Amino acid sequence: MKQKEKISLEKVFEKEYKIKHFEPENNKEAIITHFLHNNKNGVSQFFKKDAIKYTKEILQYKFPDEEITNFVAEEALQYGIFDTFEIPFPPVENPKFKFIDLFAGIGGFRLAMQNLGGKCVFTSEWDKEAKRTYKANFGERPFGDITKEETKSFIPDSFDLLCAGFPCQAFSIAGKRGGFEDTRGTLFFDVAEIIKRKKPKAIFLENVKGLRNHNGGKTLATILNVLRNDLDYFVPEPQIINAKDFGVPQNRERIYIVGFRNDLGIDNFDYPKSINKKVTFSQIKELNVPPTKYFLSTQYVQTLINHKARHEGKGNGFGYAIIPDEGISNAIVVGGMGRERNLVLDHRITDFTPTTHIKGTVNREGIRKMTPREWARLQGFPDNFIIPVADASAYKQFGNSVAVPAIQATAKEILKLIGNKQK
Ligand SMILES: C[S@@+](CC[C@H](N)C(=O)[O-])C[C@H]1O[C@@H](n2cnc3c(N)ncnc32)[C@H](O)[C@@H]1O
Repeated sequence: MKQKEKISLEKVFEKEYKIKHFEPENNKEAIITHFLHNNKNGVSQFFKKDAIKYTKEILQYKFPDEEITNFVAEEALQYGIFDTFEIPFPPVENPKFKFIDLFAGIGGFRLAMQNLGGKCVFTSEWDKEAKRTYKANFGERPFGDITKEETKSFIPDSFDLLCAGFPCQAFSIAGKRGGFEDTRGTLFFDVAEIIKRKKPKAIFLENVKGLRNHNGGKTLATILNVLRNDLDYFVPEPQIINAKDFGVPQNRERIYIVGFRNDLGIDNFDYPKSINKKVTFSQIKELNVPPTKYFLSTQYVQTLINHKARHEGKGNGFGYAIIPDEGISNAIVVGGMGRERNLVLDHRITDFTPTTHIKGTVNREGIRKMTPREWARLQGFPDNFIIPVADASAYKQFGNSVAVPAIQATAKEILKLIGNKQK
């Protein structure tokens, strides 16, 4: 095989990825990248047979005149024929624990866990744009739809921690206290099923604050009942954690649910305390933002003001606010139907001079949207985190993601308890 440059797996599968926003797609790239990234930790064996099979397919296609045997495919994999390690966040050397990353989005959990010395052994996310961002940063392509049995069949055994920021859905509860079966058909059911099958030492779930009162409190009560009684985990009272308490200028409250397998004998857990560090928007503000791209037109600013005035107090206006330099941002979120309502969580700059070509169209106050990089920073993503997608996708992805420092602080407490448990 005369191959000078590495083969880009993304290019090989490009056509298939173009078809749909969500699944279906095959898991070939996910299998190959999971195999490569789990080299030497015992987990790669799990993906090996399929990884060789698909590598052979790719090589046969690329080099039709050569004989590609299983041996050749395996050697090619070992010698790094694919471009999966030119990334800012490679797997950690000598990992301290293993985790899986469900509903992975762009890998907010993964970043936090890798920072703590963890090795991701399985990841799932079905949105193709989110997968692109994930792959660009971690080198691994997530598996797809987690509700599918085929996807679940790729989850290896024996990992320590299950992480999941799953979407919140109501259960149709038949009995008094909802149990495992009552959650069927929801994404929580899939999470619960994976816990039941794999029995990780600990679990870490994240959700919107509204989960606490969702469906009159029944949704959360059911989740806790399933985890505590059906799955036999010690689950302390869930806690609302605010991102701003962990060093980012964003007022983002989320509910965190942690749990420990009961046989580990853990019966107490302390959520992390605020680090008491005041950070303001000015500390994450991007300088020299291109005026035409992010500054709003005078008309648009007026539309927003009018709209807000009309809907004030009714709870259905655009959620926007102008954040002063020394303030902190509201929670960043993107509205339904792809409408980026909070893109207009704008920032008033003081040093704005309208340039000639935009004079008269751009508001003179210098109100602009925050940039995707600012949204990344608000969630605690470092600046070497690659944003390979268009702005509209980037806002959606960071808005959907987690505040990495808050997740990391909580995971640190979890690891203190399970770190020395061998089982
Ligand atoms: C709230 S976001 C979690 C974001 C993630 N914690 C992060 O740091 O970016 C939920 C994610 O679940 C994904 N998702 C929803 N249903 C799914 C399914 N059936 N299979 C796989 N992923 C799914 C969505 O595309 C979305 O990215």
